[in-house]
Amino acid sequence: MRSIQHKAEALWFYRVVSLGYDRFINPLFWTAPMRDRALEPARLDRPGLDVVDVGAGTGFTTEGIVASAGASRVTMIDQSPHQLARARAKPALAGVEKRLGDAEALPLPTDSVDRYVSAGSIEYWPDPQGAIAEAYRVLRPGGIALVIGPLRRTHPVARFLSDAWMLFPSEDEYVAWFERAGFTDLRRVHVAPDWWRGGWDPYAVAVAGVKPAPGPSPLALGLAPAEDVGERMTPRRLVRFALGSLAGAAFIPVALWFTVRDRVAGRSGRGGRGG
Ligand SMILES: C[S@@+](CC[C@H](N)C(=O)[O-])C[C@H]1O[C@@H](n2cnc3c(N)ncnc32)[C@H](O)[C@@H]1O
Repeated sequence: MRSIQHKAEALWFYRVVSLGYDRFINPLFWTAPMRDRALEPARLDRPGLDVVDVGAGTGFTTEGIVASAGASRVTMIDQSPHQLARARAKPALAGVEKRLGDAEALPLPTDSVDRYVSAGSIEYWPDPQGAIAEAYRVLRPGGIALVIGPLRRTHPVARFLSDAWMLFPSEDEYVAWFERAGFTDLRRVHVAPDWWRGGWDPYAVAVAGVKPAPGPSPLALGLAPAEDVGERMTPRRLVRFALGSLAGAAFIPVALWFTVRDRVAGRSGRGGRGG
């Protein structure tokens, strides 16, 4: 598993990253046009939907959900109190329920929501298959799960840094996790920020699937021993955490470099499409 693909490490990471997440991270890596395009397969425009946003963080994706589904039937779940504190300060999210919780053991009953959305969180989950089976469990029959996340890099340097940081699954892995969990009618869209070049690997994917029948996932994973979010920091883990965070931070100057080059060249955006 990757350096930050652990619950305690992700909690520490967002203790710091939450300070600048909305201002510095999303404008480079997860923009409003990308978000709106990625949310399309979730079909949020139906009336009266109960929606859960898992790994909702500061609520950037939740704001996109609320624009279609309204606030009163949307629930945000995140394991980080620091990220949720940022969401609590946003007037647009005042009517949204905010709960601390783990993507791999959601605090929701079986067959209880119409839409499950998770954006940019799977890369931190120690057990992505278990979390997608959990998405299946909480959906009502006919409900849709949408998971948005990064894709495996093939450039050797990018691959080394991304693997040292967190989980960048292949598109086949996303599809296999959905199919094994029991989802049908899979749909996929690719999204990328404006600075991402057309000839590069696809940047990120949004995968949606429909739950065909009531009850928990047919995968019946059983109870694997879960990681403890409150685990103690040991010197070994501190080193792993620091190296993983540094590998992640290396992507910021790359994104800044291409963003500035595009601004200087007057290159216009692609509105979140492609990748
Ligand atoms: C990159 S942020 C994405 C936030 C938000 N979805 C957005 O679109 O801006 C990843 C979020 O996933 C949360 N997270 C990581 N592991 C989690 C887990 N096991 N259960 C719940 N949330 C988790 C982090 O705390 C963080 O807020």
